[in-house]
Amino acid sequence: MTNRMTLKHVCKSFYTDEGEVNVLNDINLTLKKGEILVILGPSGSGKSTILNILSKLLAPTSGEIQINGQIGYMFQHDHLLEWRTIMANVLIGLEIQKKLTQENKDRVAQLLQTYGLWEFRNSFPRQLSGGMRQRAALIRTLATSPDILLLDEPFSALDYQTRLMVSDDIYQILKKENKEAILVSHDISEAISMADEICVLSKRPATIKSSHRITLTVEGERTPLSSRKAPEFKDYFDILWKELECHA
Ligand SMILES: Nc1ncnc2c1ncn2[C@@H]1O[C@H](COP(=O)(O)OP(=O)(O)OP(=O)(O)O)[C@@H](O)[C@H]1O
Ligand SMILES: [Mg+2]
Repeated sequence: MTNRMTLKHVCKSFYTDEGEVNVLNDINLTLKKGEILVILGPSGSGKSTILNILSKLLAPTSGEIQINGQIGYMFQHDHLLEWRTIMANVLIGLEIQKKLTQENKDRVAQLLQTYGLWEFRNSFPRQLSGGMRQRAALIRTLATSPDILLLDEPFSALDYQTRLMVSDDIYQILKKENKEAILVSHDISEAISMADEICVLSKRPATIKSSHRITLTVEGERTPLSSRKAPEFKDYFDILWKELECHA
């Protein structure tokens, strides 16, 4: 098994009062084993729709999907349950899957500590900042130990410093545990720093405009931070900037 996920010729239309909205047009994507695929695209191009199709929340209008493994999905909006404490929120997936073992609870406690939420475990979502809520949503996604992560703008509510730190952490977790992820981002630098491959979407109806394999020369191990210092970084940035600019 070399591929974790494949989308073949996927099309998606929504039917609204105003008529048919054609959102995705012949999308082909492959997530390879051990890799991070980043989807970059303008607002409203259909990025979240692709993740919704991959997680089977939405059915494609046509096309084929293949998935090998269990998916963890971190939505663009955190969807924390306001009446549950942070601890009860992050444990919900394990609870539903009937996997509330001591070992799993200890692992979640460790994640809460790592992400600075341990002191807030008995607080309610409304008592947290936007960035803290996002971290809680991320822990909830990691709690069930999924094989494949779908991350929809996971760092967007974080301040810059925390964002660099959290993306470094997530990258290390993914690589250390040999998991795959599809990451949706608006941020070109973030995309290059995390990706093995970047797919650029055109504006609606979205097609894959181009895809780029990211190969960087780094000293020692590749991390998002060391990637940013690679000599090729700027060249990728310029190429992707031009491609996104052409949408205007
Ligand atoms: N349930 C729906 N019914 C009708 N139209 C929808 C529905 N869901 C999404 N759309 C439309 O599909 C298009 C793509 O939406 P989507 O949320 O996938 O975009 P996106 O690339 O994730 O945007 P953003 O970067 O702003 O998050 C939008 O034009 C949106 O209005
Ligand atoms: Mg979206």
